[in-house]
Amino acid sequence: MDNFDNVRTTFGDLDYMVHSEASLLRDVMSRHDLQQILEIGFYHGKSSAYIAAILEDRGHGHLVTVDRTTAARRDPNIHQVLARLGLTHRVETIFAERSYTWELARMIQQSPRPQFDLCYFDGGHTWDATGFGFVLVDFLLRPGGWILFDDLPWTIGEAASGMAKEPAHWRQASADERATPAVRMVFDILVPRLGYTDLHIINNGRWGLARKPGDTGTLPALKPRRRFLKGLFG
Ligand SMILES: C[S@@+](CC[C@H](N)C(=O)[O-])C[C@H]1O[C@@H](n2cnc3c(N)ncnc32)[C@H](O)[C@@H]1O
Repeated sequence: MDNFDNVRTTFGDLDYMVHSEASLLRDVMSRHDLQQILEIGFYHGKSSAYIAAILEDRGHGHLVTVDRTTAARRDPNIHQVLARLGLTHRVETIFAERSYTWELARMIQQSPRPQFDLCYFDGGHTWDATGFGFVLVDFLLRPGGWILFDDLPWTIGEAASGMAKEPAHWRQASADERATPAVRMVFDILVPRLGYTDLHIINNGRWGLARKPGDTGTLPALKPRRRFLKGLFG
C-alpha cells in the first residue's frame, strides 16, 4: 500500500479532509509538479497527512503548516497523526499563539524569504482572516505558484448555527456579513485583482484554485504593492 492509501486506512474516519478531496489535491499537485507546500489550518493534521503522503509517494517535497497552539490538544494531534504514518520528516508544523497572520508576517521577513509552489488555505474563513491571510500568502508564493481555498460557501451564519456559543467577533457581524460566503468573496474580489489567472471552482463548488502571475517575483518591492492598490481601487 502506498502512503496515500495508508492515510485513509489509518485515519479514514478522522475530521476533516475526505479521500476524494485528497485525490483531487493529488491531481493538482501532480499536474503542476508542486513540491513546496504551505498549509493554513491543519486541525488534527489529516489534510497535512494527505499532502505529506503525496510528497512521500513522489519522493520529494516539503510541507509547512500553521494552526493555533490549541490544535496541539486535539486527540490525536498532528504530531501523533504524522508519527503513526511515518511522515513526520515531510512536515514542519507551526503553532500560532493567536493567528497564522502573525506567523506569515514572520515568514515574509525571513531572508531568504520562503517561496512555495502551492498554498492550501483552510483556516479562519472570515473576510478579515482569509482576505488578509491571502495578501500575506501572496508574498510567499513563487511567481506562477498556486493558491487553493477550501470552503468557498462557508458563512458565519451557517457555521454559528451548529455552535452552542459562537465567537464574540462573529456576533458583531451585520446580517449582510453573516450571510455572505467570505472565502468566495476573497476568491471573486481579491484574487483576480492581484492579477491571478487560471481561476477554477472545483470540488462541487467547495474549492477555488488560482495561479499567481508569473512576473511579480522579479519586480522591485514597490511594484506589487502599487499593483495591489490599483487593483483594489481601480
Ligand atoms: C477546517 S479546520 C482545518 C482542517 C484541515 N485542513 C483538514 O482538512 O484536515 C480549520 C483550522 O483552522 C484553524 N484556524 C482558524 N483560524 C485560525 C487563525 N487565525 N490562525 C491559526 N489557525 C486558525 C483552526 O484552529 C482549525 O484547526
